[in-house]
Amino acid sequence: MPGIVIVGVQWGDEGKGKATDLLGERTDWVVKFNGGNNAGHTVVIGDEKYALHLLPSGILTPGVNAVIGNGVVIDLEVLFSELGALAARGVDTSRLRVSSSAHVITQYHRTLDRVTERFLGKRMIGTTGRGIGPTYADKINRVGIRVQDLFDENILRQKVEGALDQKNHLLVKVFNRRAITVDEIVEDLLLYAERLRPMVADTSLLLNEALDAGDVVVFEGGQATMLDVDHGTYPFVTSSSATAGGASTGSGVGPNRLDRIVGIVKAYTTRVGSGPFPTELHDEQGDWLRSRGFEFGTTTGRPRRVGWYDAPITRYATRINGITDLVLTKLDILTGLERIPVCVAYDVEGTRVEEVPVSQSDFHHAKPILEYYEGWSEDISGARTFDELPRAAREYVLALEAMSGTRISVIGVGAARDAVIVRHDLVD
Ligand code: GDP
Ligand code: IMO
Ligand code: MG
Repeated sequence: MPGIVIVGVQWGDEGKGKATDLLGERTDWVVKFNGGNNAGHTVVIGDEKYALHLLPSGILTPGVNAVIGNGVVIDLEVLFSELGALAARGVDTSRLRVSSSAHVITQYHRTLDRVTERFLGKRMIGTTGRGIGPTYADKINRVGIRVQDLFDENILRQKVEGALDQKNHLLVKVFNRRAITVDEIVEDLLLYAERLRPMVADTSLLLNEALDAGDVVVFEGGQATMLDVDHGTYPFVTSSSATAGGASTGSGVGPNRLDRIVGIVKAYTTRVGSGPFPTELHDEQGDWLRSRGFEFGTTTGRPRRVGWYDAPITRYATRINGITDLVLTKLDILTGLERIPVCVAYDVEGTRVEEVPVSQSDFHHAKPILEYYEGWSEDISGARTFDELPRAAREYVLALEAMSGTRISVIGVGAARDAVIVRHDLVD
């Protein structure tokens, strides 16, 4: 009766969308438990390419029940435009259910996200500007607007009034912006209420009943371990729990029902936005990796920062999440390198450090200690078994596996849906 959690190991964009899609046919339910439309998942099915932001990627598989859990923050306009776009391409989205306790992103959250970033200047986080941080801040501050509030206009109005009161002072007096009226927000939100109503459910109950019935439930994490608000490179993180624990709190399913924790990790590293990144490349090799790996953001189009594989990060993610299986993606991108550097530990001010330092300034000062592995030049995108990989590629994978402390169960060798090597089944 598997509850399977998919989490990003690095700073996002590891290929979580494709991994969820890979489990597609054997999945009964797919749940998004954190984040919002800051995520960007690209899934390639045949000649068709789908870019999803708010909806879980599992929605692309016919017959799958999709859930937006309580831990998600929802931009309603984005929700309905994404649903519309999928419907136009013939994807059945009628099985989507939305938690009545999920929080809603409003215009003031988007505005605050952008003006705060501008105010931070050099210290900016480099957010996606989608209002994610301010919406989670309101949730924790207990002045958030939840999906269920949309169905009682009086309550909605009171809550928006309460939330806007302080914010308008801030917007006008500090940020020099115009005040936002209660009416415009309420009107905006009510625009979607009736279309949303039939989708709203007690999603915790649905998911627990599904697990009782023996269904396969996949919890699809957005963002990644190093962007997690508790365990990531704070303050250069997102504002949600992107690690495996978030699957439980963000969906209302007990941690003892999460049987497999699958960590998705790229064969090299990327990051979007500001913050420390020890293996980052600033030279032509970085440009080569970025263009070969098409490392440009799905959400904002920003060029992603790129660097080599960082083994301490995978070890850290394994520990924080309790990862049982790793999916190593984009191995094909490394084809053609004579030798492949891997970060095995850090040099922090002259001291060798084996694990991810918990002190922010140590991590900022960490320089990668690299080991070099032999590269390969053969095209590996057609390989479907481990033995079909060139010897050097096998050795690279086995070395990463040994350093990470968890088995690498699946290897991605191309963007296509079937371009994978499965060494261990993720559903059993
Ligand atoms: P996510 O945010 O973790 O879902 O990842 P993104 O979709 O933002 O970025 C991953 C990109 O890599 C997508 O464009 C995928 O189509 C692509 N991709 C995933 N796995 C592989 C792989 O094994 N090889 C190649 N070449 N591309 C892959
Ligand atoms: P997926 O799910 C990569 C980054 C932003 C920024 C920081 C905070 O596609 O892996 P936010 O808007 O969340 O407040 O921004 O987090 N970020 C991501 N980077 N992939 C993502 O999602 C991301 N979601 C947020 O670039 O540095
Ligand atoms: Mg992405």
